[in-house]
Amino acid sequence: MARDILATLKNEHDALRGLFADLKATTDRGVKTRTDLLERIEAALIPHAKWEEQVFYPAFKERADRDGLQTHAEALAEHHAVEQTIIPEVHAADPGTPEFAGRTKVFGELIDHHAKEEEKTMFKMARQLFTAEERAQLDEEYEAWKQSDTAATLVAAEKAKAGIKGVVKAVRH
Ligand SMILES: [Fe+2]
Ligand SMILES: [Fe+2]
Repeated sequence: MARDILATLKNEHDALRGLFADLKATTDRGVKTRTDLLERIEAALIPHAKWEEQVFYPAFKERADRDGLQTHAEALAEHHAVEQTIIPEVHAADPGTPEFAGRTKVFGELIDHHAKEEEKTMFKMARQLFTAEERAQLDEEYEAWKQSDTAATLVAAEKAKAGIKGVVKAVRH
């Protein structure tokens, strides 16, 4: 089958759903498992989200009609909520606590909701707006980008930011 960026993004959503399901199954005593799973979730989520924000969403926006523009705005607002509120709150919680369990549950629910909206609305529109060749090309570019220094730097910066905001929130609580 030809490569398709929309299939790749959907597969990454499914991988994230799986990791969140594993995380939900942990107990307050599973501190190491929780820490590892959160690491894996962020390692998968951050490059995905950053690439969507920097490449896919702008390309989509350029061709979108009014409904598409609203979908784009909605998706971006959800990214911001996750980045600025949800992730820092998760980082402010100790992995051995019910707070961590509650906050990561909300994190997983939001990601699932966001992924569903992308799959059912945005990607459906994108299938009409981009040719199969363009989608294959985007898929190749995404794969190369994920291995680039730019991606590594961005991911490191996002992680540091989440950690710092988490500390600030922990102090405030
Ligand atoms: Fe997204
Ligand atoms: Fe996505």
